[in-house]
Amino acid sequence: NWTMASFVDKEIERIRNVVGPTAQVIGAVSGGVDSTVAAMIMSKAIGDRFHAILVDNGVMRLNECQIVQKTLQHHLGINLTVADAHDLFLGRLKGVTDPEKKRKIIGNTFIEVFEAEGNKIEAQVEQEGRGKIEFLLQGTLYPDVIESISFKGPSATIKTHHNVGGLLDDMKLKVIEPLRELFKDEVRALGAIMGIDDELVWRHPFPGPGIAIRILGEVTEAQVNIVRQADNIYIEEIKKAGLYRKISQAYAALLPIRSVGVMGDKRTYEQVIALRAVETKDFMTADWFEFPYDILKLISSRIINEVPGVNRVVYDVSSKPPATIEWE
Ligand code: XMP
Repeated sequence: NWTMASFVDKEIERIRNVVGPTAQVIGAVSGGVDSTVAAMIMSKAIGDRFHAILVDNGVMRLNECQIVQKTLQHHLGINLTVADAHDLFLGRLKGVTDPEKKRKIIGNTFIEVFEAEGNKIEAQVEQEGRGKIEFLLQGTLYPDVIESISFKGPSATIKTHHNVGGLLDDMKLKVIEPLRELFKDEVRALGAIMGIDDELVWRHPFPGPGIAIRILGEVTEAQVNIVRQADNIYIEEIKKAGLYRKISQAYAALLPIRSVGVMGDKRTYEQVIALRAVETKDFMTADWFEFPYDILKLISSRIINEVPGVNRVVYDVSSKPPATIEWE
């Protein structure tokens, strides 16, 4: 795509001018398309003077941290540091059941870990006499810009949203936002021409607080493991059925209630997995996705048979509004 290719060249040129010959840049990545495309552009512009940071918050999806690391570092050649803070996050989430409290804990801990990692990188760079960290990369898109200057979408007032890098005002760094004039479909097109895998380019959005807001009630390592496995089966079958791109967002949630079941000739008393899948243009309103029954049947039986601790699967048939896309 000609326009997109020239956009990349112009943006690289602009970034080089803004950053200059010695300054360093940091930015958080999540494995989502926005932060990856932004990081790619930055990396092409200034190479290893850009330092990407991935925070492992313990509530990413199954094997996600390793997958993101492999893709960004090894396939895309981005200078990446992984900050493994899963114990810190899970420790702070212990005993917390209120959705807003979970969101605040994760948001604040994220900033803390990101800043600490930034400081470490800064110390090293300065010691090596390679200049200073002066800029923060953010993958803000045009709709985010509009939302923050003119109005708050309904979900923003209902849930405290936190985004990768979205709350880092106190870092005294100048912000660079290569995607601030683009819509999501344009970012995907950019990603594709820069050689990012289709799998990543078409990835469903994933909330900053991760699966912590998809585990109702307390978030423990055991609960994280259950929902991760169920979600992995769900997404795998959606992809196999060729439905992934038709659905705007799909995930499994874990309901911390128990119901009675039977396995072989034994009574079981286990938790419930709720499957969510929606179609939407803007994520402000959404319709639940009309799955073919045979696909639901397959997914349900795989989850119940393969995920210990689950004996019942339900499908969420609520539209937004009045329900929201996430359960918390
Ligand atoms: P709701 O649940 O409000 O979600 O209907 C709308 C969209 O926003 C995502 N979401 C978040 N994204 N940080 C994010 O970056 C958050 O804290 C957050 N909470 C919800 C949600 O996954 C859906 O795509």
